[in-house]
Amino acid sequence: MTQNTYLDSFRKTFEISTEKMLEIAYGFRQAMEAGLQGQESPLKMLPSFIERPSGNEEGVFYTVDMGGTNVRSTKFKLSNRGFERLGEVKSRLKDPDGNYDYTNENTSAEMLFDFFAKNTEKLIQQGEQQASLGEGPKLGHTFSFPSRQVGINEAYLIEWTKEIKVAGVVGNNPNKLLKEALQRHNIDIEPVAILNDTVGTLLVAQYTHENADIGVIMGTGYNSCYLEGKHPLTGKEMIVNMEAGNFNIKLPLTKYDIEIDKRSVIPGAQLLEKMVSGYYIGEIATLIIEDFYANKAIFDDTDSMNKFRSKKIEIDSLDVENYILYPERTTHVLGCSLDDAMKLKDISKSIVLRTARLVVATLFGTLLHIEDNEIKNEHVIAVDGTIFEKMPNVPELMQQAMDELTRSPNKIVFKLVKDGSGLGAAIAAAVAEAKSY
Ligand code: BGC
Repeated sequence: MTQNTYLDSFRKTFEISTEKMLEIAYGFRQAMEAGLQGQESPLKMLPSFIERPSGNEEGVFYTVDMGGTNVRSTKFKLSNRGFERLGEVKSRLKDPDGNYDYTNENTSAEMLFDFFAKNTEKLIQQGEQQASLGEGPKLGHTFSFPSRQVGINEAYLIEWTKEIKVAGVVGNNPNKLLKEALQRHNIDIEPVAILNDTVGTLLVAQYTHENADIGVIMGTGYNSCYLEGKHPLTGKEMIVNMEAGNFNIKLPLTKYDIEIDKRSVIPGAQLLEKMVSGYYIGEIATLIIEDFYANKAIFDDTDSMNKFRSKKIEIDSLDVENYILYPERTTHVLGCSLDDAMKLKDISKSIVLRTARLVVATLFGTLLHIEDNEIKNEHVIAVDGTIFEKMPNVPELMQQAMDELTRSPNKIVFKLVKDGSGLGAAIAAAVAEAKSY
């Protein structure tokens, strides 16, 4: 096979046709409905015990946001559907220089949650003395991992995702662990709400967009939630965390995806997430390039390949973004020809286009459920995460794919919602407070 025919046939394996998107959408809708009824389904359909916010949420709230790459403690003031960020401390869970790692199996639950408490302590020290905080401030906790929720303040971690392996958290309530850690640090702040980052993103969007009813995270991990009109548990509106990253029906898995899955901490799980999210995209690109090299379809000299291999592979999708945006720079970094750099660009673009189309297919499936087949209304889909925000053209590619499916341009629109996982937690804490009176 010539170099170019290898590239062409690779491109084809990454293409997702309109028909394939529809097939995935129907499968997704079915899986949603099975999961909602408590039947066997790859979609966990986890209740959040949160409905649409009233917009009257007010007060000062602390938040802890644990997403997988960083932990963030923030203090927000909410009023009149607006907010002010009064302070924030962000720390990486894994030190890039290798001094510590709070994601591996040698970390205990206490160590992890003490790290969160210390982060909150720094935030308090940044602003004011604890003594002046007033009567037991409340905290909202965004914990972005599949958790079986039994109330707004009580959830149990089902399993870690995003390759985290911390011991002693699965099966436990992260808000209880957080509360104990805060107490160990003599911090008088009470966790009152726990939520998924998708739910936070949707809550924030609902402040400004009346039609917002789906929330999506396209970051280190992948997931979506939606507002169920009549939840089987309550008969009322409720936001449902679908854990969409675990969807696995009719996905066009390539040999690369199968390999990524095999090498992962939880083989067989999170198949969609492993095809579309920031944690895995860089690794997919690496596998493809290794394959191209083995088949003499890229890099005539071993030097460039060795340079490519020795480059630190980022746990995010930065490389893919750079290959698309800066092929000239790639030629310098890897000492390769412009032709090779353009191949890296092409491969990366195929991965990104596939991401956009797979994600949109599942979102279309969600709309089919919400509208019961015929999409008559306008909807706003709130999205957060670096893949949507930073990866070249992703919002446009998603809009095109959605318009292709609805055949009604811009009826469904995507809105970037920044910091849904932080601010959403403050809104959730306010909702929990209002409920407790
Ligand atoms: C988790 C979800 C989360 C998503 C985005 C996934 O790995 O299972 O709960 O919403 O990542 O952060």
